[in-house]
This record gives sequence, structure tokens and C-alpha cells, in this order.
Amino acid sequence: MNTQYSIAIQKNLIPKSRIDEVNFQELGFGKYFADHMFIAKYKDGAWISNEIVPYGEISVSPAMSALHYGQTIFEGMKAYRNIHGKIQLFRPLDNWKRMNVSAERLAMPPVPEEIFMGGLLELLKIDQNWVPSRRGESLYIRPFYIASDNFVGMRPSSEYLFMIFNCPVAAYYANPVKVKFEKNFIRATPGGVGYVKMGGNYARSMLATELAKSDGYDNVIWLDSQEYKYVEECGTMNIFFVINDTIITPPTSGTILEGITRASVIELAKDLGFNVEIRKLSKEEILESYQQGKLQECFGTGTAASISPIVKIGYDQDTNIQLIDPSEWKFVPKLQNELNAIRISEIPDRFHWIFPIT
Ligand SMILES: Cc1ncc(COP(=O)(O)O)c(C=O)c1O
Repeated sequence: MNTQYSIAIQKNLIPKSRIDEVNFQELGFGKYFADHMFIAKYKDGAWISNEIVPYGEISVSPAMSALHYGQTIFEGMKAYRNIHGKIQLFRPLDNWKRMNVSAERLAMPPVPEEIFMGGLLELLKIDQNWVPSRRGESLYIRPFYIASDNFVGMRPSSEYLFMIFNCPVAAYYANPVKVKFEKNFIRATPGGVGYVKMGGNYARSMLATELAKSDGYDNVIWLDSQEYKYVEECGTMNIFFVINDTIITPPTSGTILEGITRASVIELAKDLGFNVEIRKLSKEEILESYQQGKLQECFGTGTAASISPIVKIGYDQDTNIQLIDPSEWKFVPKLQNELNAIRISEIPDRFHWIFPIT
């Protein structure tokens, strides 16, 4: 039983932790998995079991609905070890809410807060040693939710699995990022699923990203589906531009993931007294601002990527936007320092984003 969330969890724990196998000097991202995982099962209108078991393979039927029809959604969030050595989460209830926004769009039943949070807190208690302590490192938490009916045919599943596993990680992007405007493929359309954190959105992004990588970029900037003109988001990050001392980011309006880091950066930037505009921004405006010397900074935001400076934007075959060294920027370093300091309680959490683990 957890004191904050009272769910009963059946536990089968491993006798000896695998943590000694981890090279904490080279954590990278997403390659190590903590000892245990949480599994909750839903069947015919009810949540029927909660378990914590050793991290490992799960056995599924070849007819499992999620594998064919894509009713599969996930979240990404982080636990930090603060400067006093205590573990804390960053805005976990926002991830829980967003998972249920995704679930609703895919006709999946909502995951109750008690199961999402109760399972997570218990898992973190058991695997607390897996939360790294070096600055810039954290425990990446991957809750996911999949349709588990064994049934061939198009209808929402009647059985589901909600699971959580955790990975100790370092920075996602070690260096400033290079991106290009994507002119051939689109990620999302109005009325579609751009705002949903579902597997299919990532599958459809992979070819464009791989092609961009073969051109020397890290990722693409997705444009709107009607005119290929307005900026949407960037790979697995929301995107911001600083033009004329104003921080500008596109509105989410259904085609963009409502990033929790994005919302935090908007709030933080306003609090720091910066001008913030949430408005449509065309690729032409970005190029013109650059040519007029008004484009000062560009950055992506995300749980994995945190606040990542973007230094190069491929505009077209012949034109590049190349920004100066981010260490000379004014806005990004300030935002990074403040956000990082809040995450590890180096400064007070004036926004109430931290969820301490007792
Ligand atoms: C497509 C996409 N956009 C934006 C983000 C940033 O969202 P958040 O800040 O909640 O991690 C992510 C990362 O999860 C993402 O996958």
C-alpha cells in the first residue's frame, strides 16, 4: 500500500539488483532498464490487477490488438535526485492527465490516478537506487498503455495493459541540434491525432527523420499540413524561436503534442520577465528575421531533450540558417539554469511543479 494512493499491488521482486551491470559513466539514453516494472490489467470494464515484477519480456498473442490496430499510447516523464539526495518527480500528474487525453482519442478507457501514481510511486520506492545523482542525469519513466485483446477485427479492445518501466539516463542531445524544414512529409492534420502521444505518430515520423539524418541533420521541423508553411514542432520536441527579444512558439491547436516542458518554459519565461508570444510562425518569417539579424536563438523543449539549443536550420537546398554559439545566447542559458535548478530543488519551486517522494 502507498500512503498517498491506496492500491493493492502484488509483488514479485528479484533477489539481487542488476544495478552493478550499469556503467553510470556512460548512461546514454534508454539502454539500461531498472530492476522492476509495474503492470496493471483491465478487462471488460474493470481494472483487475496490479503487479510489480522483474523487468523483462512479456508474452503476447500474435493477434494482440495493439500490434495490428495501433491502440498504443505512452508517456515520458522524469524523476530527479535533488541536492539533498531525495527523489522527486517533475509534474507527474500532467503526464497522467495527458495519457488520458490520448486514451480518450483512441477510444481506450482512462487510467485511474490511483493506478498511474500508486504504481509509479511503489516502483520508485523499490528501485530508488536507480535514480542517478549526477547533474544532468535522471530516471526516465516510461508509462505505456496498450490494447491487449486477442481478436482480429476493427473495434476498441476490451482488455488493456498499463505498464511502467524506468531507465537511468543522461542528456538526450549531447550537442546543439541541427534541424531542417520538412517539405515532403507531414506529421499531423487538423482533426487527426497530432496531439496524441501514440505509437503511430512516431512511426510516421521515422522516414523523414532518417532522411534528414542522412543529410547531416538531427531531426526535422514539421510544418502545417495545408500550406507547408507554418512551424509545428520538431521531432520529439516543441520548438521556440527568439526574434527581436521575444520568445515565440506556435499554438498547439490539435496538431502538436502539448509538451509539459513547453508549458513550463512558457510560464518560466513570463515569470522571468521575458516577452512570450504564442502564435503562428511561418518558415518565411524565420528566414527573414535571420536575414535581418533579428533571429537570436532557437530551441526545442521536451522531457528527454530538456531545453536543447538549435543552431542550424536547413531552409531549402541552398539556404541555411546558422546561429552563433549558444554559450553567447541570452535566453536559453537562463531558462536552462532555472528549470534545472527547480528540478533538483537548488532553488525554490515557485510554480509547484515538484512532486516529492516521501
Ligand atoms: C512529438 C513530441 N513533441 C513534444 C514533446 C515534448 O513533450 P514533453 O515536454 O511533455 O516531454 C515530445 C516528448 O515527449 C514529443 O514526443
